[in-house]
Amino acid sequence: MTVASAADRRQQVVWKGPPRLDLRYEVTHRPTQSMWEAMMKVTPGMASSGEDPIVRELEDYVAELTGKEAAMYLPTTTNGTVLACMARDVRGKQVIMEARCHIYWVERLHISHLAGAAPKLIRGDKYGAMDLQAIEDAINETAYGYTPPTGMICLENTHNVYGGTVLTPAYTEAVAKLAHDHGIDLFLDGARVFNSAVALDVPVRALTAPADHLVLSLNKGLGAPLGGVLCGSREFVDEAKVLAKRMGMIAIHKAGLFAAAGMVALKTMYAGLADDHRRARRLAEGLSEIDGLSLDLETVQTNLVRVSTAGTGISALELAHRVAEHGLAIHVMEPDVFKMALCYDVDDAQVDEALAIFAKVLA
Ligand SMILES: Cc1ncc(COP(=O)(O)O)c(C=O)c1O
Repeated sequence: MTVASAADRRQQVVWKGPPRLDLRYEVTHRPTQSMWEAMMKVTPGMASSGEDPIVRELEDYVAELTGKEAAMYLPTTTNGTVLACMARDVRGKQVIMEARCHIYWVERLHISHLAGAAPKLIRGDKYGAMDLQAIEDAINETAYGYTPPTGMICLENTHNVYGGTVLTPAYTEAVAKLAHDHGIDLFLDGARVFNSAVALDVPVRALTAPADHLVLSLNKGLGAPLGGVLCGSREFVDEAKVLAKRMGMIAIHKAGLFAAAGMVALKTMYAGLADDHRRARRLAEGLSEIDGLSLDLETVQTNLVRVSTAGTGISALELAHRVAEHGLAIHVMEPDVFKMALCYDVDDAQVDEALAIFAKVLA
């Protein structure tokens, strides 16, 4: 049996091995055959000294793609966000972000402990967009005659918790203008920015260029085995590299192996994201027809599907345990909300199978 015993129950179902049908996240899926093949051809260089040609190629490629001067290959997206906060010296300053963004949800202690950032939260709309006036008010807010300095404004595109929702180029430009009018940097958590670009049918750089710095992930929708990439001005990336050395973060030995797979991901996986979005919609529409489950189809814009169990009378965790008995893994987000992620490794038949499992356990 794959599922842990009731005694092990925490907030999520705990699996003793890989679930048969894992719709929790993109990151548990295998790289593609072409990625393995690319890795097998690599003779890695000393990446931490800048000697690995494939790592350099990847950094140049992503810098160009995002409209930035420079880029830095890192193990994770989180590393990039922490380094950005450190490089821009947000210590003792507020960092404005959407209330349910990943940076606050998962990384707030990283950025407060390591970079001294004080998150300032603004609740966004159902797509994760913060009202521009609310941002302006947060920048100008005073308490007892003191206006806390704002070190950075962060956006998340796509927005994970709201269900993979997208922010448009026009919105990103408007926030960038507002930030720059106040002499503040805009940072983009673009872990899934490729999904946004595909959903909006715009070049990636239309979403990234307005931000001063950004981080993106190669191992979510694109399916690479490892890597986040931090992008920005040459000066910013050079500063981040020094900080990464100080943090012991920089030496990804044999990084060329992963970068080779990352290049395959960047060059070949982008177009397939549209299929993931189509499957996510099919899954969402199917789930919306099951009694008790509810979701907002307007927010199903990319590869994530956010679903409420409120009408079923059972919690999301209880439902996660029930579907787990059939080999299906889902991600519990809130007491009555779960989320699923589609990616290149999940096909139409598996979407149908997932729907059949939900129908069965909720019958
Ligand atoms: C929006 C967003 N940002 C950042 C991250 C962190 O990525 P990583 O696990 O590569 O650090 C995630 C992870 O799911 C995410 O969804």
